[in-house]
Amino acid sequence: MKILVTGGAGFIGGNYCLKMTEKYPEDTFVCLDLLTYAGNLETLAPIMDRENFRFVKGDIRDRAFIDELFAQEKFDVVINFAAETHVDRSVEEPDVFVSTNVMGVQVLLDACRKHVVKRFHQVSTDEVYGDLPLDRPDLLFTETTPLHASSPYSASKAGADLLVLAYYRTFKLPVTISRCSNNYGPYQFPEKLIPLMVSRAMADQSLPVYGEGLNVRDWLHVYDHNTAIDLIVRKGRVGEVYNIGGHNEKANIEVVKTILKQLGKPESLIHYVKDRPGHDLRYAMDPTKLVTELGWQPEYNFDTGMAQTITWYVENRGWWEHILSGDYKEYYAKMYKDRQ
Ligand code: NAD
Ligand code: DAU
Repeated sequence: MKILVTGGAGFIGGNYCLKMTEKYPEDTFVCLDLLTYAGNLETLAPIMDRENFRFVKGDIRDRAFIDELFAQEKFDVVINFAAETHVDRSVEEPDVFVSTNVMGVQVLLDACRKHVVKRFHQVSTDEVYGDLPLDRPDLLFTETTPLHASSPYSASKAGADLLVLAYYRTFKLPVTISRCSNNYGPYQFPEKLIPLMVSRAMADQSLPVYGEGLNVRDWLHVYDHNTAIDLIVRKGRVGEVYNIGGHNEKANIEVVKTILKQLGKPESLIHYVKDRPGHDLRYAMDPTKLVTELGWQPEYNFDTGMAQTITWYVENRGWWEHILSGDYKEYYAKMYKDRQ
């Protein structure tokens, strides 16, 4: 099989490429990535010379370029990880979220139709369902929960999901969609909660916790997300949506305290700052369909997965220090100055 992996220089797509090129030596993987601020070729360095892997720099919104690539490569499968992904950035600059996350997906869908790709898989998110109340632990998102996005990011992902399903219904394009909860693991850009807190705590800098730190996220190791995507692509039913999650709900403050404890840093580093506008209260996924239909089970438990992840950031300072030394300083100053 020849598989196009868009956004493969990012966090989840990068972990996907590292694992799947090794697991499936008989398949060929072409990674297409624009290398925005979030893309990092250092992540892919260990597989750059593999025979079954090739990196191409390009933009999923560039119709002529995408058409040419599809004509040359004749992909069997397209897995779309490429997106603008940070909620706080979408509050500041929504345009690029609509452009990449909606228009870019439409360009890919058209190319899949024209070049008769056997499967288009859209990597979506639990955020398309909106949020759940904190005092109703019995409520979980299922695949039939109505879409109710809160941020420009999640609205753009919901828009993409609707387009993907419309291409299935109208053009019979063989599509699948997965909606996953929050991921943690190696190679995550340090604007996101866990790597941000680990890198700042290691430098004895203040840890900016939004609001009272009581918002709940449902954490899954990136490895388990990718095994689920792999199963859905190979065995999932076309036209279907599959929720992915491991029943690991944690309040943000618990996650931050776990990090401080493992690093041996004091809780006095915690600073409660102004909340994110429209901040979703709680996410919680029901992955029953994926488990019963495709037999998926997560391998990581949260405590050991988090411990390994924190250790990874401690042992791989070089990877995130390169990022922190660039435009990131400006980003942090701009995004957090009004939050103090
Ligand atoms: P990321 O921000 O780490 O990586 C995104 C990648 O997409 C980057 O390498 C970037 O360069 C690339 N990209 C951006 N715009 C592009 C364009 N126009 N053309 C080509 N490449 C482009 O994101 P991530 O956390 O790895 O998320 C991957 C996917 O998974 C996204 O679709 C996201 O919505 C979804 N998702 C993420 C999580 C999470 O917790 N991180 C959870 C559920 C779903
Ligand atoms: O749920 C899946 C989604 O998870 C993905 O679709 C998104 O791409 C991904 O970015 C992530 O979104 P979140 O907004 O949940 O992740 P983030 O790491 O930005 O924030 C996690 C929680 O931590 C959230 O409640 C906000 C809070 N937070 C975040 C940052 C960056 C803080 O308290 N302080 C911070 O500095």
